[in-house]
Amino acid sequence: MQGNTILVTGGGSGIGRGLAEAFHALGNQVIIASRREKVLSETTRANPGMISYVVDLQDAAALRDFAAKVASDHPALNVLINNSGIMRAENLKAQPGDLDEMESIVTTNLLAPLRLTAALLPHLKKQPHSAIMNVSSGLAFVPLALTPTYCATKAALHSYTQSLRYQMQGLSMEILELIPPYVATDLMNGADDPRAMPLKAFIAEVMSILKTQPDAKEICVESVKRLRFAAESGSYEAVFRGLNDAMTKHPH
Ligand SMILES: NC(=O)c1ccc[n+]([C@@H]2O[C@H](COP(=O)([O-])OP(=O)(O)OC[C@H]3O[C@@H](n4cnc5c(N)ncnc54)[C@H](OP(=O)(O)O)[C@@H]3O)[C@@H](O)[C@H]2O)c1
Repeated sequence: MQGNTILVTGGGSGIGRGLAEAFHALGNQVIIASRREKVLSETTRANPGMISYVVDLQDAAALRDFAAKVASDHPALNVLINNSGIMRAENLKAQPGDLDEMESIVTTNLLAPLRLTAALLPHLKKQPHSAIMNVSSGLAFVPLALTPTYCATKAALHSYTQSLRYQMQGLSMEILELIPPYVATDLMNGADDPRAMPLKAFIAEVMSILKTQPDAKEICVESVKRLRFAAESGSYEAVFRGLNDAMTKHPH
């Protein structure tokens, strides 16, 4: 919660900005990074001391250069929050069509956090205490059929995070997974959808979990538990149907 140097990818908007500002307010050194200079500089202007880098994490070479630069500019960097992501509706009946979109979802949501983790692990391992928090989704656990590749990348990120945590046992490194429900952001035009959890309330609940449950590995606000534990609670079929029928009838 305090005394860390934290890199938040996608920290210029939505959940990333909310987390960046909450950690900044607690006195941490926060670094944000994404493609849009405008949202990054708006965020750093509103939060004096916060630092930003412009990088397109879909570009493997740019990602490698960025990771090397951020680690050398900030030797104290000890926390990585893999938050950047994109979500797109896809019509699988129309395939094979243009597969660029599908591939860019995989690159942004899955390859980029894996590449950034690989690039920064040697640096993070040297720190006395470090952490990686991967932002997956409730949709990793029950897919929304409208966004098939998105859900598949999040399920894969959940799987990878468990393996990473297991392999890092014995090191002073925490491996966390933040599993958001539907939150009101610009991810897929949901900022004004009344069904989405307000961003402020989501960030407040996340920060409260981090503070009061320091051993929690998966950060789940109350409203995501229906999706996260659908399989364990025996309600998977009903939750899958409910989610997909509701979204098909009333897409936002
Ligand atoms: N909102 C929800 O309902 C919800 C639910 C579950 C999980 N999540 C996850 O939460 C995370 C944040 O999403 P959000 O809801 O806050 O939406 P958002 O405001 O659209 O944030 C996504 C961020 O990712 C960054 N990004 C996208 N492509 C990038 C690239 N190629 N390189 C670098 N950065 C890139 C964007 O910045 P630039 O455009 O400046 O690059 C943006 O700041 C995502 O991983 C999302 O999947 C969201």
